Amino acid sequence: MLILVKVQGARNPQCRGCQRFRANPMKSGPRSLSPTLSNGLTTVGLFAMILGTSPTFNDPLQLFFAAIVVAAWIAIAAKFALRLRKLRTWARQRLYLTSAEGLIDAASVLALPCGWLMVSEPKDALLFALAWALRYIRHTAGLALFWRVMQRSRTALLSIASLFLAIFFVASTLAYIFERQIQPEVFGSVPRAMWWAIVTLTTTGYGDVTPVTVWGRLLGGWVMVGGVVMFALQAGIIATAFAEELQRRHFLHTWDLVTTVPFFQDLGAAAIADIVRLLESRDVAEGTVIVRKGEPGDTMYFVVSGEATVQLSPAPVVLTPGSFFGEMALLFGTPRSATVVATKPSVLLVLDVADLRQLAGRRPELVNLIEAEARRRREANSTTQALPARAG
Ligand code: CMP
Repeated sequence: MLILVKVQGARNPQCRGCQRFRANPMKSGPRSLSPTLSNGLTTVGLFAMILGTSPTFNDPLQLFFAAIVVAAWIAIAAKFALRLRKLRTWARQRLYLTSAEGLIDAASVLALPCGWLMVSEPKDALLFALAWALRYIRHTAGLALFWRVMQRSRTALLSIASLFLAIFFVASTLAYIFERQIQPEVFGSVPRAMWWAIVTLTTTGYGDVTPVTVWGRLLGGWVMVGGVVMFALQAGIIATAFAEELQRRHFLHTWDLVTTVPFFQDLGAAAIADIVRLLESRDVAEGTVIVRKGEPGDTMYFVVSGEATVQLSPAPVVLTPGSFFGEMALLFGTPRSATVVATKPSVLLVLDVADLRQLAGRRPELVNLIEAEARRRREANSTTQALPARAG
């Protein structure tokens, strides 16, 4: 049995993107090819394009590779057209065409015609099929995450980029001033000195161009340190944005789960936000022993979906979504009073003992309810005996 009660107005208030995702019309149409098949097609096309550049193959073989590239392109174009047809309305088609996936699909289709138009040598035109390499990443969930992280940190990254540009221009000009007389070949103009500046600033340091004057070397040291700092700052900004984004997703996911548990349904958004920070979600497979009789316990569980059975004698107790268990060991400091097994694949919210204490401080009314139920269960159990564990 699934509990369908939702906290009115409290469901995922921050998740504007989630609503859009749920209603994403791009997901509604069946796909003409599965991602695996589509990736296979891309791989075959790209391999044929790469092999076609090798002079070791004779003309008929090269023609064969070219035919494969063109066949792959026809299949990609047909898939694209089919997808657009299935989306039917312009609004849905526009949404698809402006998404990363749609843009990559469109670029894949246009790649070869662009090659044929722009390059006179037909063999070279096939090199435009390189755009298909983007097709590998269009289904990746990680790409969406990466994109969002970049968006979140763009202001900080742009500041770093501006600083980077400033150092780059100053370094190139100073290097030109210090080194132009001694090394006119490589520092004879600011654009020439830019090569040294970029290589030094990115800490690539090929060593093909090096300053020889004292001032030039001092400048080189300064630019190298500047480059390291720039990259360290960038890495820090991106890593922090990644961590924040993952935390935000986790928060929204837990929020969704918490609001399906009737036990929390009377709480306002602020209280739910409080609780969401304390709970961890866990998926458990059917037959998993979640709690074993006699063991010490430091976590309690809320059933979000699925079913858990408390193995009690004479009759087991079935816990459906909305129920909780594992609270007795936490509240009474006793070993687990019974074994609890997931009798269906379930989603649980886990609260550990330290967080239960925090919850008692912040929301005593909730913990009182849990405690009252724990007492009732203990009394009921005093006349019964727990069955041995069946699953393990
Ligand atoms: P705990 O003793 O920590 O671990 C086993 C859990 O089974 C227990 O907490 C309760 O949450 C649950 N439990 C024990 N007895 C009953 C009962 N009579 N009815 C429902 N749940 C129970």
